[in-house]
Amino acid sequence: IGGGTSVEGRLTAICELLQENVDYYDWVGFYFKNGNKEELKLHSFAGEPTDHTIIPFGKGICGQVAVSNENFVVPDVKAQDNYIACSINVKAEIVVPLFVDGENIGQIDIDSHTADPFSKEDEEFLEWVNKKVARIVG
Ligand code: SME
Repeated sequence: IGGGTSVEGRLTAICELLQENVDYYDWVGFYFKNGNKEELKLHSFAGEPTDHTIIPFGKGICGQVAVSNENFVVPDVKAQDNYIACSINVKAEIVVPLFVDGENIGQIDIDSHTADPFSKEDEEFLEWVNKKVARIVG
């Protein structure tokens, strides 16, 4: 695995593995709570760079998950009012919160260029990924 053994490098490797191996995962990233601030910060990602490296709690799909503590599956981003567009190519998004000792400390965020691609299996798979990641970052 590239990126050495740093947490950052390991998370980037996970993002790349997911983005390269699931054809409808076009952008994969991990956001984490930024210190004591009420905002998320992008830590690692695979795909096109985004301007949205800081997202206030409550804003966009990611910010909503920071406060809801629940998975958010968006089959059609155009139907969402509270949505932050990172690329005009994105049609759908899934965000799954990441818990350490029961606390929502961040999330995995995946954008897709395919319409309505995410199923319950993606949710379960990403929950499993996040449980593994919780052991790296926790
Ligand atoms: N679309 C997200 C912003 C992050 S980008 O997808 C990388 C949102 O609405 O929160």
